[in-house]
Amino acid sequence: MKTTAPDASASGPRCLEAAVDDRLRRAAVRRLATGVTVLTAVHGDRVHGTTASAVTAVSRDPLLICVCLRTGSAFAELAAQAGRFAVNVLSDRQAPIADWFADPDRPAGYGQFAPVDWEPDPDSGAPLLRGAVAWLDCRPTASHPGGDHSILLAEVLCGSAGVGGPLLGFDSRLHGVELRDVARRRAPATAAAGITTLD
Ligand SMILES: Cc1cc2nc3c(=O)[nH]c(=O)nc-3n(C[C@H](O)[C@H](O)[C@H](O)COP(=O)(O)O)c2cc1C
Repeated sequence: MKTTAPDASASGPRCLEAAVDDRLRRAAVRRLATGVTVLTAVHGDRVHGTTASAVTAVSRDPLLICVCLRTGSAFAELAAQAGRFAVNVLSDRQAPIADWFADPDRPAGYGQFAPVDWEPDPDSGAPLLRGAVAWLDCRPTASHPGGDHSILLAEVLCGSAGVGGPLLGFDSRLHGVELRDVARRRAPATAAAGITTLD
């Protein structure tokens, strides 16, 4: 495979001593584009929703995702107690919902769901937000420390897809994007081996 030598120009890839600067390291990490979700869980009379973009596929078989939640997250505690939670993958029309479920001043309990259109998951009861591009019903399987966050591993028990384009987080902002196919080349053996998690 042809490799490209590191570009020495100002805009090229490099990791000079200056880039060890905290601001630059974080700015680089912020350029990992992510989907944006609202995680929901219910246990007894307690219900909670929280916005999370650190959600990614981990394993194809079993089908696992992981969610990174700040240490002390109210959601992580409730999801562990409930043994189930839902992932609502937001559409590009739902940026205000992402902001709402990240607002520390939102009401607790069912009050936080009053401004949104939702229905309970038929199995877990966790709120499913209408208009999302996908919904996952998940069972937490493990939690691992990760710096000032915890990495919650969960099995996807059930999933369904909605319509519309995804809401993306990139460079500390939320974006709607026009998805277009791009040129790519992939060896058939790579596809057969399921090198990407969900192929
Ligand atoms: C776009 C966006 C993405 C976020 N992603 C995460 C995340 O992945 N993990 C996290 O712990 N907090 C994330 N937050 C912050 C939480 O949503 C916020 O701190 C929330 O109030 C936590 O509530 P809780 O601890 O009561 O569940 C995100 C916020 C926004 C706006």
